[in-house]
Amino acid sequence: MTTFKNIQSLGALAGKRVLLRADLNVPMKVDDDGNRIVTDDTRIQSVTPTILALAEQGARVLVLSHFGRPKGERNLDMTLEPLGQHLADATKLPVSYIDDCIGEEVLDVIDAMEDGAVLLLENVRFYAEETRNDPDFAAALADNADFYVNDAFSCCHRAHASTVGIAEILPSAAGLALEKELVALEGALGNPVRPVAAVVGGAKVSTKLDVLTNLVAKVDHLIIGGGMANTFLAAQGIDVGASLCEHDLAETAINILKNAADNNCKIHLPSDVVVAKEFKANTANQIISINNVAKDDMILDVGPASVTAVEADLKDCKTLIWNGPMGAFEIEPFDAATVSLAKAAGALTEAGSLISVAGGGDTVAALKHAGVADKFTHISTAGGAFLEWMEGKKLPGVEILLAE
Ligand code: 3PG
Repeated sequence: MTTFKNIQSLGALAGKRVLLRADLNVPMKVDDDGNRIVTDDTRIQSVTPTILALAEQGARVLVLSHFGRPKGERNLDMTLEPLGQHLADATKLPVSYIDDCIGEEVLDVIDAMEDGAVLLLENVRFYAEETRNDPDFAAALADNADFYVNDAFSCCHRAHASTVGIAEILPSAAGLALEKELVALEGALGNPVRPVAAVVGGAKVSTKLDVLTNLVAKVDHLIIGGGMANTFLAAQGIDVGASLCEHDLAETAINILKNAADNNCKIHLPSDVVVAKEFKANTANQIISINNVAKDDMILDVGPASVTAVEADLKDCKTLIWNGPMGAFEIEPFDAATVSLAKAAGALTEAGSLISVAGGGDTVAALKHAGVADKFTHISTAGGAFLEWMEGKKLPGVEILLAE
């Protein structure tokens, strides 16, 4: 079992300056008055316990994050300033803000802070040196603090100054959310209770090739849904009509199927599907066998017989990893397979027979749509980092926090 340096390992924090890497890269919209408002505060809620734990111990908490991809420019459309109020609301602590993240002025403000206070620093990506992991920039960030805590799993696939460079300089630890995330992920794929099932959906095989290749060697059941199932079906000679399909990846798909067979991984592809002539909510649709798809049919969801078969196998599984929807879940009625399977997984988890871990933007939205997000054992706040983890890659922001 891999172990990570945690906050306790840092020792007494009273009066210490702790630089906390959060991921405040949250969905926002501009309201009628031109203010930027957070539309989904999951990532703010997830870092809140760590802010509170550090502040309660009397640390001066310096919250550092990126927002968007400003490419080293000071772009005020991506300032973190409005996030200060959201952090204050979530933590019920006063949160002050400064319009930079390094330099004399920042150091002066930190010096004047009271113990237990919280300061939000400006978007770290306003400096191009951040994404280059420039050592001088990492040193300037490190000058702000005595300790570094990373609570942003969703940024751990980036080898940046604020995720890796600074951790090479300061005594470092994983925050509470990152620790929870790493324990859940280790339990799901590192050292799982078997049998393990993985659901991989989404539009394109090409975006998840490495995920599929890694999973067939590790899981007992691989349930392929979404547009990517069409590529596998077509590769086996099935006519998928006008459906989304990457015909050029036929050979790759066949190789993945061969690897699955070699590794005793059962592949679940739909035997029935829901088809329509157009991609539109509540358009006329039909449930048909996968062998009867007409030239102008678009497959928009997995059919009920296939979902029932998957649910039957899922009952015997002990662990489930989920990334990507089964069909075009954002338009009705093509959300049916995703909703049914999500509910089944939620019920098995609630009954205590399944450990369920899900991640990725669309996946979380799909599980929320099915009303079961709170029933899953763990929902990752990460998009790209979760995928890289499913690909079996080592995440640099995590590796640097491994206990020796
Ligand atoms: C995310 O939203 O997945 C993280 O904040 C990482 O953002 P990035 O892809 O711009 O590095």
